[in-house]
Amino acid sequence: MKSSTHWRTTRVESLRDMTPTVREFTLRPQDAHDISADWSPGSHIEVELLREGRPIRRSYSLVGRPDGECFRIAVKRLEAGQGGSRAMWQLAVGDRLQVNGPRNHFGLDLHAPAYLLVAGGIGITPMLHMTQHLQAKAGHAPLRLVYGAHEAAEIAYRPLLRELLGDSFAEFVASEGRHIDIAAEIEALPPGGQMYVCGPVPMLDAVRRQWAASGRPVAELRYETFGTSGRFAPQPFRVEVPRQRIDIVVPADSSMMDALHAVGVQTLHDCKRGECGLCAVDVLALDGEIDHRDVFLSEHEKAGNRRICTCVSRVVGSIAIDSAYRPD
Ligand code: FES
Repeated sequence: MKSSTHWRTTRVESLRDMTPTVREFTLRPQDAHDISADWSPGSHIEVELLREGRPIRRSYSLVGRPDGECFRIAVKRLEAGQGGSRAMWQLAVGDRLQVNGPRNHFGLDLHAPAYLLVAGGIGITPMLHMTQHLQAKAGHAPLRLVYGAHEAAEIAYRPLLRELLGDSFAEFVASEGRHIDIAAEIEALPPGGQMYVCGPVPMLDAVRRQWAASGRPVAELRYETFGTSGRFAPQPFRVEVPRQRIDIVVPADSSMMDALHAVGVQTLHDCKRGECGLCAVDVLALDGEIDHRDVFLSEHEKAGNRRICTCVSRVVGSIAIDSAYRPD
């Protein structure tokens, strides 16, 4: 997938609240570069924000079709998050924001005989362009989109989804006792059909389990997550790195990776979303529980607690690790 890797300055062109906690940002690049070429279904951009004077980077899926002029992203405000969404929500029209990309780690295969798209919460963002792109193909393959949210008011882009998909769009609101029946959805997908999922880790774990149980090919399930959804609310925890005689406390509003980097303990990394596994380090000792928030380690590996993905996973208690990073 083609990608652009240089940082460019954008200006916040407009803001639109899609739900009480989801805000859409339209960002106009200051250079004249045409941004459409690298903007494919499933692609995202990285933004650089300041949190308490320190730069932090976050990835956000691009929303909808490119117009050749502006990026569009939507950000869910998380009070218990690590500060990225709160920093985004503090932006006003006219503010400047550094942006890198687009890149795509969630590419869409256009040759499947049928598609099932599943979104959980803010995971709807990459699905919009996927839907539009698939439907733009002449005689397009059958497509169904199911969208789960905690509250009805949190279904973002509902009018557009209904207009695009009609009866092929279904929403499931947990507070109304309606949950996605993942096994039934997979069962209804025609043979050879592909499933694309973007949602919190528990949703992806459930999908992976059901997909494996269905006996369908692994390659026909594609997914992306956001590492903000754990079993426990973020809280400070202690990390020791005996090899480097480091003993730190990771604050509630910082990732373990960022806290380690701040004291000079480097870890390999790429996605920072719990997907690539590059940042996984060995666990030497654990006093408490690991809140695994990645989708890289298998459920068996997570249960064994021998490795932890530092970009998204957290601990309740304390942990000793050995960084896999070895500078030459
Ligand atoms: S950097 Fe990719 S899983 Fe952590």
